[in-house]
Amino acid sequence: MAVGIFDSGLGGLTVYDAVSKRLPDVPLVYFGDNAHAPYGVRDAEDIFQKTTKSIERMWEEGCDLVILACNTASAAALRRMQESWLPENKRALGVFVPLIEAMTERNWGDNSPPREVDVKHVALFATPATVASRAFQRELAFRAIGVDVEAQACGGVVDAIEDGDLILAEALVRSHVDALRRKMPSPEAAILGCTHYPLMENIFQDALGADVQVYSQANLVAESLAHYLDRHPKMQGEGTENVFLTTGDPKRVSDRATQFLRRKIEFTAA
Ligand code: DGL
Repeated sequence: MAVGIFDSGLGGLTVYDAVSKRLPDVPLVYFGDNAHAPYGVRDAEDIFQKTTKSIERMWEEGCDLVILACNTASAAALRRMQESWLPENKRALGVFVPLIEAMTERNWGDNSPPREVDVKHVALFATPATVASRAFQRELAFRAIGVDVEAQACGGVVDAIEDGDLILAEALVRSHVDALRRKMPSPEAAILGCTHYPLMENIFQDALGADVQVYSQANLVAESLAHYLDRHPKMQGEGTENVFLTTGDPKRVSDRATQFLRRKIEFTAA
């Protein structure tokens, strides 16, 4: 048994990396549905079907707890999964809430009524499906009042990263930041609302300028998982080894993953 980390492709490796550093003794099963990435241009039904199929495969690896290290799946499928699909002994956790709790200066699991927070103008960069779901704004409204969120759907960035074309990814990030600034000239904070985007974090920060605080999810998700496992130690499982599964071409995906994490990562076919 192990904790599962799921993404449509390579982006969840940013979460995997942070979790493996924060919880080095927890065995992890990473699953990338690379054959079907990007999810961000698909409709909610399609994202639900693809996410649940991947998670069923992770159950075969003993993952009773799966982190959806994919904002698109968290936004489009998680609520439906939790309400009507997950069996009683399985859990799935998304990546939005830890980020919003950090931005709204809350402790983990603080469910008190929404209140005013320091940050008033927030830029959200995410996939088209995540932006269309408005899930981020909904979660934020449960916790904070008076925050103006401007969302920018960053078409093309995930495809470019999956293809290893980082020059195209950089050009697209800069043009999406320009587009955002035309709608919101002076954001105080920016949310990287897609787990692929931390791979381009320096470019986002450079394009936004040093005075904009950039929030990305990996470390926040790792911290909230550590807190969750403290409270639910049985969900950690036993197992000893990390496993990497992909629906894509294992050689190609391993090469990209090794390039991104700067250490040898070997995927096998899911
Ligand atoms: N990393 C996923 C996310 O966080 C990628 C989305 C996609 O496949 O388009 O949204």
